[in-house]
Amino acid sequence: MQQLVLKSSSNKIKSGVVGLDALIGGGLRPHTVNVVYGNPGCGKSTFAWQFVAAAGDNPSLYISLEQSLNEIIRETRSLGINTFEKKVKDRILHFHHAIIKDSEMNAGEVSMNFLMRELPHHIDALRQEAEHYEGGLRIAIDPLTPLLFEVDGLNQLRGILGRIFMNLRSIGTTVVTLEKGFDDVLARLPLYLGDSVFELDYLGLGGALSRTVQIRKMRGSAHSEKPHPITFETGKGLLVRNFD
Ligand SMILES: Nc1ncnc2c1ncn2[C@@H]1O[C@H](COP(=O)(O)OP(=O)(O)OP(=O)(O)O)[C@@H](O)[C@H]1O
Ligand SMILES: [Mg+2]
Repeated sequence: MQQLVLKSSSNKIKSGVVGLDALIGGGLRPHTVNVVYGNPGCGKSTFAWQFVAAAGDNPSLYISLEQSLNEIIRETRSLGINTFEKKVKDRILHFHHAIIKDSEMNAGEVSMNFLMRELPHHIDALRQEAEHYEGGLRIAIDPLTPLLFEVDGLNQLRGILGRIFMNLRSIGTTVVTLEKGFDDVLARLPLYLGDSVFELDYLGLGGALSRTVQIRKMRGSAHSEKPHPITFETGKGLLVRNFD
């Protein structure tokens, strides 16, 4: 049987996860929204940290809807992804923590308020800067999930997510993380609206297939169609173990 040849393209955006780009034709497509989907502790946030850490000297935008900057710095330090901390200090990584500041708002309302009202302003402010870089800025949103519980109807959420994703695509290449395990169709809508889906699985059984990544979708590109083992390694973070 003829083997699938994954053509590589030079204008792809490196994911920052060692071994992954070889499975998706060289990297993420520029100006897309890419969903990292998985169960608790599978490495979703680590993927997002690595993605922005791989921006080199280019500016990037990180939106945390959950963990504080101090928590992220502590965790990236323990994984040896030190460039995350340095980029924040050097102000080339724009970090925003959308958290509950007044007790009137729940996590969903805070997320909605940030993504619908504040994010467009940040995007406009960064638009000119983004044009200087191929593929625009690297953007991460971790996790997108709280927003999904704030909206009642599928059509309303589709409209809201469509606008957010269109805005993000206009200035760069985005990784959003999405928590798995909610049966609600609303909680899975980003999988349909995203340009690619990386499903991370963590079985917690030890062994080579305890942690895996599978590419569920990659619009406009050939990709590997099977699960690949992944591990955590100090200094590299999350990495794909073999390329077979
Ligand atoms: N230095 C390390 N060595 C090995 N494994 C590690 C190391 N640091 C983190 N991990 C693993 O990574 C997990 C956390 O990764 P991460 O925070 O990226 O997952 P997540 O999918 O975002 O989790 P959550 O659902 O809580 O948001 C830990 O539970 C642990 O299993
Ligand atoms: Mg996380």
